[in-house]
Amino acid sequence: MAFSTLASPLWLSRSAFFLKTSLLHSGTRALTRRFTGPGQPSTFFSPISLKPSFKHLSAIRSASGIVAQKSSDSEWSLAREDVVILGIETSCDDTAAAVVRGNGEILSQVVSSQADLLSRYGGVAPKMAEEGHSLVINQVVQQALDNAKLTEKNLSAVAVTIGPGLSLCLRVGVCKARRIAGKFSLPIISVHHMEAHALVARLVEKDLQFPFLALLISGGHNLLILAHGLGHYVQLGTTIDDAIGEAYDKTARWLGLDMRKGGGPALEELAREGDAKAIKFSIPMRQHKDCNFSYAGLKTQVRIAIESKNLSVENNSISSTSSHERRLRADIAASFQRVAVLHLEERCERAIEWAMNIEPSIKCLVVSGGVASNQYVRTRLNHVVEKNGLQLVCPPPSLCTDNGVMVAWTGIEHFFCGRFDPPPRADEPKDSMFDLRPRWPLGEEYSQGKSGARSLKRARLHPSLTSIIQGSAQQQV
Ligand code: KG4
Ligand code: ZN
Repeated sequence: MAFSTLASPLWLSRSAFFLKTSLLHSGTRALTRRFTGPGQPSTFFSPISLKPSFKHLSAIRSASGIVAQKSSDSEWSLAREDVVILGIETSCDDTAAAVVRGNGEILSQVVSSQADLLSRYGGVAPKMAEEGHSLVINQVVQQALDNAKLTEKNLSAVAVTIGPGLSLCLRVGVCKARRIAGKFSLPIISVHHMEAHALVARLVEKDLQFPFLALLISGGHNLLILAHGLGHYVQLGTTIDDAIGEAYDKTARWLGLDMRKGGGPALEELAREGDAKAIKFSIPMRQHKDCNFSYAGLKTQVRIAIESKNLSVENNSISSTSSHERRLRADIAASFQRVAVLHLEERCERAIEWAMNIEPSIKCLVVSGGVASNQYVRTRLNHVVEKNGLQLVCPPPSLCTDNGVMVAWTGIEHFFCGRFDPPPRADEPKDSMFDLRPRWPLGEEYSQGKSGARSLKRARLHPSLTSIIQGSAQQQV
């Protein structure tokens, strides 16, 4: 698949980055299992073609030598605690890397945020974001290895996000991952960013089994997914225009909030001071009895409310306003948040109903993605879930926003099913064409969930992850 270039504004200035690092440890739970899952060996991603590409693999190595050996055509014996995977994430505005053990132990997690850049330029400009990633990627990966007290030689594989996201940004992470994998002869695992947001819940909650329902809410996506199994997803709903994170970010900007900590967190904080019933915004898409989302109209309602109160949306820092005006802004923030989340609640109610009809054994709703770190969102969705006799699984905020752990963990999940590519050539040219998937659906659309309200943005979509995996599995039979 060709690397496509996006139109991008001129580079304006070098960005200032800050490096948030944390060393997170979860309990070590040694798991040793003999993998004989259905349909194994499974799909292998290939960087250029989509054909199975790793048939010759007979052993997986790691720090302690060979940890997985193919004892027959379909049987792997694996020691989970001996597998160590580096995850790299550069799909949008965070440069992240983490090292995770096969049993879910997080050995390190490093995130370099471009929030500062975002606050100065008002959004993610692909060319600037690419430069930002390029500036810090080596440092971020090195720090993840150092914090884990490991070197590349100790790794079993490298996992990297290949989509969806901005091509220019994805390419930085993919190049780095392939350089390491080529030099140290490591398998490479291509990761779907939204699958990673969903699957990280299985690292946090070890008992979370398929099937489950997932609401994935971020800056670019609003997805309701029925997860039947690893790599097997049905899309119950998506946004027909903007995602909720985009609406939070725009509203925060118009209200003059400090965007350096991110629009969403800043708005959540201000909303605590406001009256959520002060302004009557209407809940989107009530006439459509489906699970799709829309936030563009709510954004327009907010803008009109701001203008009708004579609040400026330009040069309007909240730090320089009167207490009366601050109160007005807080009311708008709280009213926006209430309706934005009511829309989520209503769609989740319907999705639970649909999902229970399709898969009555579902017990959990996973809520993940950057917006899932919002406390109000969590509390409200918890009510919905409890009312329906389900359990809410919501990763901690540091694993909801973009991070390398979710990529490493998703790599681990696929690795243990035998889905990975062989090491690239050590001398692979820097300008190679990589398989980047900027527009890549996670699953197939639920046919009975289709309605009149649909996105027109359907051009240049990559086949979904689920269809690729199922197609390859059929080829293997
Ligand atoms: O998943 P994520 O880190 O990146 C994408 O894949 O887009 O999500 C980023 C989005 C941003 O729009 C950000 O403002 C939002 O998540 N977000 C929040 C909160 N924390 C992050 N939105 C509302 N409340 C929060 N506390
Ligand atoms: Zn994300």
